[in-house]
Amino acid sequence: MLQKAFTLFLLVMLFGCQKISQEIVIGVAGPMTGDQSKLGTDVEHGARLAVNEWNEKGGVMGKKVRLEVGDDQHDPKQAVSVANKMVLSGIVGMVGHFNSSATIPASSVYHRAAIPMITPSATNPKVTDQGFWNVFRVCGRDDQQGKVAADFIAKHLRATRVAIIHDKTTYGQGLADELKKNLGLHQGIEVVYYDGITQGDKDFRGVLTTIKDKNPDIFFFGGIFPEGGLLSKQAKEVGLAVPMVSGDGVIDPKFIEIAGAAAEGTYLTFTPDPEKRPQARNFLEKYKAQYGNELAPYAIYAYDAANILLSAISLSNATDGRKIAETIRNMKHDGATGHIEFDRKGDVKVSPYIVWITKNGKFEEHWKPG
Ligand code: ALA
Repeated sequence: MLQKAFTLFLLVMLFGCQKISQEIVIGVAGPMTGDQSKLGTDVEHGARLAVNEWNEKGGVMGKKVRLEVGDDQHDPKQAVSVANKMVLSGIVGMVGHFNSSATIPASSVYHRAAIPMITPSATNPKVTDQGFWNVFRVCGRDDQQGKVAADFIAKHLRATRVAIIHDKTTYGQGLADELKKNLGLHQGIEVVYYDGITQGDKDFRGVLTTIKDKNPDIFFFGGIFPEGGLLSKQAKEVGLAVPMVSGDGVIDPKFIEIAGAAAEGTYLTFTPDPEKRPQARNFLEKYKAQYGNELAPYAIYAYDAANILLSAISLSNATDGRKIAETIRNMKHDGATGHIEFDRKGDVKVSPYIVWITKNGKFEEHWKPG
């Protein structure tokens, strides 16, 4: 009885607040503190830039837009708790989460609450393959990324012995699995090592020595820059002097900061350089003026995700989640990352992965699949 009364009270509060709300609230979430905080704050900044632009033009549906920020610390349980808080704070839509391991459990919460979400960065196939009508992403998928990495390793590096390490997360292990599967489509490649490390560990010399003894031509890492940087550095220390290949989780200046000189010659897959794209100019100028020159690869994706969400609310002229999601699904958006259209699942129709290299302490484009 008491519980029913409380639920009713919550509903009245929520409904009442939404009705009289003079603002449109959207959320952004990612690892805002902890070892991956650079990634979380990048996406917060990207989303905030879009929100500020909308507010300068008068807001959405005549109301100011407010950005609610959630810190999931790339932890699946924390992500669910953040998602529940977001729902209670009355968000109309969500930019996030950042990591696949946080995005997938959080997406169930937003799905139950009928709130559309666009992740800027969660690349694991399951994010959209689980079939939720409210879930979209503006980045690519790890089955695409893993294929490009495998083609590069086989055709360009002509490696025959490959060691694979992952961080046991949804993203890291998922990407490692996609790579392994795609390497299997090339003749004469042997995966000489495949195993996981633990996120947060600091000393990988033991596993790297085991890998060295397998005599690989390259080693692949599925994971994020804190562990990626240490692996790159410690590989050189134990005499594993072969290139590291990785994915979008390590394209951050922090990777180079951690790995130091050992970062030179690391390959990774990501989308092409926005500095070369005229559509990205406005975003890059404003972003750098506000947040500095440091490379923030996923900020531009959060900017596009927030703009798509706010355009959809504005075009739908409604805060109803189903209407907004339907508008997103039919949208043709010329964004800073390029032209965006979604397929039925909520994936972008085009996502052009290429290979980058670290050279002279910077990331640069290196190889495009033929
Ligand atoms: N692409 C990375 C992930 O999905 C950031 O977790």
